[in-house]
Amino acid sequence: MATTEPVEDWAEDFDIFDPGFVKDPYPVWRDLRGQCPVAHSDRWGGSYMPSTFETVSQVAHDAENFTSFEVGVAPVPIAYDDDGNRLRSVISSDPPDHTPERRLMLPFFSPKRVERYREHTEELARRLIGGFIEDGRADAAGDYARQIPPRIIAEILGIDPEMSDDFTTWVQGVLELGLTDPEIREKYRIIIQDFFLEEIARRKEEPGDDLISVLLDSEIDGEPVPMHVIRANVGLMLVAGIDTTWSSIGSALWHLATHPEDRQRLVDEPELIPVAVEEFLRAYSPVTMARLARNDTEIAGRPVKRGERVLLSFPAANRDPEVFDDPEEVIIDRAVNRHIAFGAGIHRCLGSNLARMEMQVAIAEWLKLIPEFECEDPEAVTWAGGQVRGPRHLPVTFPNRSAL
Ligand code: HEM
Repeated sequence: MATTEPVEDWAEDFDIFDPGFVKDPYPVWRDLRGQCPVAHSDRWGGSYMPSTFETVSQVAHDAENFTSFEVGVAPVPIAYDDDGNRLRSVISSDPPDHTPERRLMLPFFSPKRVERYREHTEELARRLIGGFIEDGRADAAGDYARQIPPRIIAEILGIDPEMSDDFTTWVQGVLELGLTDPEIREKYRIIIQDFFLEEIARRKEEPGDDLISVLLDSEIDGEPVPMHVIRANVGLMLVAGIDTTWSSIGSALWHLATHPEDRQRLVDEPELIPVAVEEFLRAYSPVTMARLARNDTEIAGRPVKRGERVLLSFPAANRDPEVFDDPEEVIIDRAVNRHIAFGAGIHRCLGSNLARMEMQVAIAEWLKLIPEFECEDPEAVTWAGGQVRGPRHLPVTFPNRSAL
């Protein structure tokens, strides 16, 4: 199934884990759009890869022909509880289950609710920078971007923020390393599962106002929310909230470290940061999802059979010249920017307000304290890809505090 053979034909034999593609996927999508807008590969269980805005949106909006039963970019085993119930979260549910279950969690991610965490995120960002500013160098991905999302999601779930390093390791195990290594994935899936079983048991004894307690206390159609749904959704919060935002903050800092004119502009005009964040989300969209065809169907004329996997390459859609002027350019004050980095249709990201706030704060606080910085060694930057793409090691240098 899996192969590491170099790719010769991206239209009919692409490899989403190809190291060159992970590092820079954009030329491949640019070529495919003109040549074969729905590519196919037998690698990693087989999948189709639409690369235009129209085809990606079509599939994302079509829950009738495409199920979210399996959303991994490569096949992974389905998890069940001891009674044989599939552990299904909103992200892996279809209608009619999906809508009421999603509605239960919406209040935790409303713009107003998210503002509660802004000050805390600002303090956290300053504290992290304080830890390395005197060194004159840092790993902007590892020492900074990676540190923010797990601490904020811990607040929402009422779990121990001091365990953030563990949370990130577990999520990387499931979402990154585990996609190509089933043993690693199962190891970390079980760690996350056992951790939340204990947390759920604790909340039953001592309820709070966190998301776990609220789900335990909620009803759908007069019935308690099934335990396999609660378990899957609290686990999803960790998995969905960490790698994604870490990657987005990291990509934005990588861009600023390599584009001094954009960096200087945001230092001079910090009010532009929310607009720039949308452009970073468009140009460096981290997330690719998948669907399985529920029926024999077609995408842009290419037949897709029932059960076959289709990748939702939101990063490719967001660089389609049919929709975005100069799509390969990062224009930090881009005025019209209807990107789909957070997906489209019924599964559109539940955490988008939170992710935006974290990105805005992370960039603003960094630029206030470290207005000048650059890549220490561009060759030393490493990227993860597949389901979530972003820098994992991003060494930067800057004048140390005594020089500021
Ligand atoms: C920049 C950061 C983020 C990006 C780019 C992102 C992207 C996405 C995308 C593309 C989807 C659609 C999935 C699909 O169509 O199958 C999604 C769904 C989701 N995201 Fe995010 N996400 C981010 C951050 C977060 C955060 C911080 C959370 C909070 C815990 C979160 C929670 C969720 C949830 C729960 C869903 C499933 C929604 C549903 O199925 O109804 N995400 N995200």
